[in-house]
Amino acid sequence: MLAGMDRPRTIIEPFRIHAVEPIRITSRKERAAALEEAGWNLFSIHADDVLIDLLTDSGTGAMSRDQWAAIQHGDESYAGSPSWYEFLRSVQELWPLPHVIPTHQGRAAEKILFTVIGGAGKVIPNNTHFDTTRANVEFSGAEAVDLVIAEGRDPAAIHPFKGNMDVAALESLLAERADDVPVVFVTVTNNSGGGQPVSLENLRAVRAVCDRYAKPLFLDACRFAENTWFIKTREAGQADRAIPDIVRDMAALADGMTMSAKKDGLANIGGWLAVRDDRLAEQCRNMLILTEGFPTYGGLAGRDLEAIAQGLREVVDEDYLRYRIRSTAYLGEALAAAGVPLVQPFGGHAIYLDARALLPHIPPLEYPGQALAVALYLEGGIRGCEIGTVMFGRHPDGSETPAAMDLVRLAIPRRTYTQSHVDYVIEVVTAVAGGAAGLRGYRIADEPPALRHFTARFEPLG
Ligand code: F0G
Repeated sequence: MLAGMDRPRTIIEPFRIHAVEPIRITSRKERAAALEEAGWNLFSIHADDVLIDLLTDSGTGAMSRDQWAAIQHGDESYAGSPSWYEFLRSVQELWPLPHVIPTHQGRAAEKILFTVIGGAGKVIPNNTHFDTTRANVEFSGAEAVDLVIAEGRDPAAIHPFKGNMDVAALESLLAERADDVPVVFVTVTNNSGGGQPVSLENLRAVRAVCDRYAKPLFLDACRFAENTWFIKTREAGQADRAIPDIVRDMAALADGMTMSAKKDGLANIGGWLAVRDDRLAEQCRNMLILTEGFPTYGGLAGRDLEAIAQGLREVVDEDYLRYRIRSTAYLGEALAAAGVPLVQPFGGHAIYLDARALLPHIPPLEYPGQALAVALYLEGGIRGCEIGTVMFGRHPDGSETPAAMDLVRLAIPRRTYTQSHVDYVIEVVTAVAGGAAGLRGYRIADEPPALRHFTARFEPLG
C-alpha cells in the first residue's frame, strides 16, 4: 500500500448512486418571477424552481437500496403489524425506553406530550427549543425557556459543545419555579443554535440537577447520531467507543424522548415519542389514538415503519457519519476561507450563515436573514432557510423583538447532493456575500398569528 493511503485525505461518499432525480436549471429572470409570485417567501416557491434545495435536511434525504427493499416488507395490518415489531426492535436497540409511541413526525410527538404535561402556568426549559417545539409548548399555554450556554448564543464563539445546557441557569430556574416545571428538555443536536452538539458530560450534569428536583429529563433526539459522532470525536474518553453504545448512554440518562425519523431515521416521514413512565405513556397513547392512530402504527403506514427500522441501522454506521460530518464541514471551511461570516464550529446537518454580521446595514426588524436567503435563491436557485427574527421575532402577546441571531441555514439533505453541487453552492454564496452591501431589507405584508415564517408574505424595502 502507498504511504498514507491507509488514512486517505479525501473522505468519499460511502455509497454510489442507484437512481437519479433530474434538477431543472432555471434562469435568474424565472427565479425573480417565482419570488414575486411567492411573496418573497421561499416556503411558497415551487420546488421544481429550486436548483439546490437546502431548505431542510428533514425528510429530504435519499433512502438506501435496503430501505426501499424494507418497504416491500411493509405489512399494513391495523393492529400488531410485523412492521411495528420491526420498528420497535430497531428503536429499542438504540433507545431502550419501555414505551415507544409512533407518530407521523416529530411535532406530533411534541403535540401529544405537551397536551398531556403542558398548560398555563407551566414552564419548559430546553437548551434551545426548535420552532415547532416552542410553538407546541406555547400552544398548550406553557412558557418555553431557552437556557443554552453563553457560547451557544455567540455565532463566532468556538466551543466543542455549543449546544450544552447552562446547568447553573437550569438550577436557578428550578430553585425558583420547580413546581411549574413538568419536564426538562435537551435538544441534540441544538438545531436553532447552529446544529451544535451536547456532550455526555453536560447531559450527566443536567441529569443530576433533574434528580435533585425530581424532574424528568427528555431529549429532542432528532439528530442523535450526528450528536453522537461529535461526542465520539470531541469528548475525552469516547474516541474508541462504538456509536450505538454512546447512543445508549444518552438513552440511559433520559426519561423520555421526542424524535423525528425524518432526520436521523434516514426516512422521508415518521417519528416517535418514548417514555419510561407507565402512567404518562397511557395518557399519551390515549391522545395518540385521538390524533394519530392506533398505538402500533401511529400516523404511519407499515412500510414507513420498515424504512425507519432500516434507517436506524444505517445511521449509526461510522463510515456514513464520518462522511456526513466531513461533507458539511467541507462547505463550511470553503465559505469561511472566502470570508463569509458563519456559525462556528460547524454543525452536523447544516452550515449557518450569520446574516446579521454580513448585512450590518439591515436592522433585525428588516430581516437580514430573509434578505440573504432571497438573494441566494435569486442569484443561484439555492433555497436556504431564515432562522432568525422572521422565525422567532413575533411573540404570543403580539409584540415583536429581534431574535438572538439572524442566521440563514443551509441544511444538507442526507446522502443527496454530491461534492460538485456543494462546490456550486460555495460559488453562489461567495458571490452573494461579495455583493452584500447592495442587499436591502424586507417588510412583512401579511402574517398568520403563529409560525409566521411558513406562510408570511414579504415586500422588499427600498
Ligand atoms: N425538533 C427539532 C430539533 C427539529 O429540528 C425538528 C424539525 C422537530 C423537532 C420537528 O420534527 O419536522 O418531524 O415535525 N426540524 C425540521 C428542520 C423541520 O428543518 O429543521 P418534524
